[in-house]
Amino acid sequence: MMMYATPERVLISREEIAAKVKETAAMLAEKYRGKKPLVVCVLNGAAVFFADLIRGMDIPLEVATVAASSYGDATTSSGEVRVTKDIDVGIKGRHVLLVEDIVDSGRTMKALTEALAERGPASLAVCAFADKQSRRAVDFKPDYVCFEVPDLFIVGYGLDCAGLYRNLPDLRVIGDAK
Ligand code: IMP
Ligand code: MG
Repeated sequence: MMMYATPERVLISREEIAAKVKETAAMLAEKYRGKKPLVVCVLNGAAVFFADLIRGMDIPLEVATVAASSYGDATTSSGEVRVTKDIDVGIKGRHVLLVEDIVDSGRTMKALTEALAERGPASLAVCAFADKQSRRAVDFKPDYVCFEVPDLFIVGYGLDCAGLYRNLPDLRVIGDAK
């Protein structure tokens, strides 16, 4: 039988997440009011965050999805980034807001934003649920961040470890001291 145990340590509770996401969504709604932004979910990790975020933005907006993957093992990303599922609408002249789960080395978002910038969006910004700034390997800074997190491997609220734990409502830590 497969072993499955919920990681014990809660880093950020569902209540704290809900409050912060609501606040971030309200702030983004003001930034993008009148601009009908194209809000893009970076699959799969941002799906849960994205669903909550857009429902907190009470302005006209459109949604799209994109998927990028960096080669590597379960817990570290290598240098190479590949767009595995492109945005299926044109972004030229649009105000594009990318919604990402977590920025770690920064490679995924740096590569993705550079590729999308070439298509001539009116603006391009990144909203990350979590930011592990201490791990940055390339020069990239998300425009909006809900939570700055320490150098720990976190799961839940959309984030996975080898495909599991995305459905946990709280943000939890796998293992501990690293
Ligand atoms: P980066 O290219 O190194 O910034 O990697 C970003 C991607 O790595 C994220 O979109 C996540 O899919 C994954 N990732 C990085 N750190 C974590 C973590 O602590 N938990 C779950 N996924 C992570
Ligand atoms: Mg991801």
